[in-house]
Amino acid sequence: MAVRLLISVLIISLVSLTYASDPAPLQDFCVAVKDDDAKVFVNGKICKDPNMVSADDFLFPGPNMPGLNVPGNTSNPLGSKVTPVNVNQLPGLNTFGISLVRIDYAPYGLNPPHTHPRATEVLVVVEGTLYVGFVTSNPADPKVKNKLFTKTLNPGDVFVFPEGLIHFQFNVGKNNAVVFAGLSSQNPGVITIANAVFGSDPPINPDVLTKAFQVDANVIKYLQGQFWWNID
Ligand SMILES: *[C@@H]1O[C@H](CO)[C@@H](O)[C@H](O)[C@H]1NC(C)=O
Repeated sequence: MAVRLLISVLIISLVSLTYASDPAPLQDFCVAVKDDDAKVFVNGKICKDPNMVSADDFLFPGPNMPGLNVPGNTSNPLGSKVTPVNVNQLPGLNTFGISLVRIDYAPYGLNPPHTHPRATEVLVVVEGTLYVGFVTSNPADPKVKNKLFTKTLNPGDVFVFPEGLIHFQFNVGKNNAVVFAGLSSQNPGVITIANAVFGSDPPINPDVLTKAFQVDANVIKYLQGQFWWNID
């Protein structure tokens, strides 16, 4: 009986660990102090004096900034633009495990394959037609390939990208597309695959990438010579 109880407790604690995301708040709010003004750096951001907190700390945009009703500028090689509202733009989000983005796409604009290391993303299409997808992590069976899940989304459609998995959105319509997405972290982070692999500073040793991608060294040299645009 005791063993069974112990096993149950173990399973429950493992399951809750698996579902853990940003730590839960321990007070009503902890409005983030700007990194420039912080004297110490912790996991997350330190709290502003609660007596100095005002409604503005919970509001985006700040003074003289455009709100999320304003489209992002998609004039770039990818034809898309992410406008984030996370703890870096909205200090009142600190400790709440949640944030938001608006993404604009020109016709054929792409939000290239990327991951959020700390968040699941749930996206709603407001305008346009998007081909979206994500790929599973490496399967336990080495003979099985990573699986791709895709959909073509229209206005009103909601799609979820699981935490940490590589995903993308591509505007396959002839008009602009607009989405809003919620993310389960105050600071989801973005790793754009191509930028991180081919555009790091300093560059990854080309021998590493030649072997990893199983291509000629010239291909890697070409890719490392490109300008890797960042739309975030
Ligand atoms: C959009 O970005 C392009 C390229 O950076 C720039 O030339 C253009 O002025 C920007 N447009 C607006 C409306 O800000």
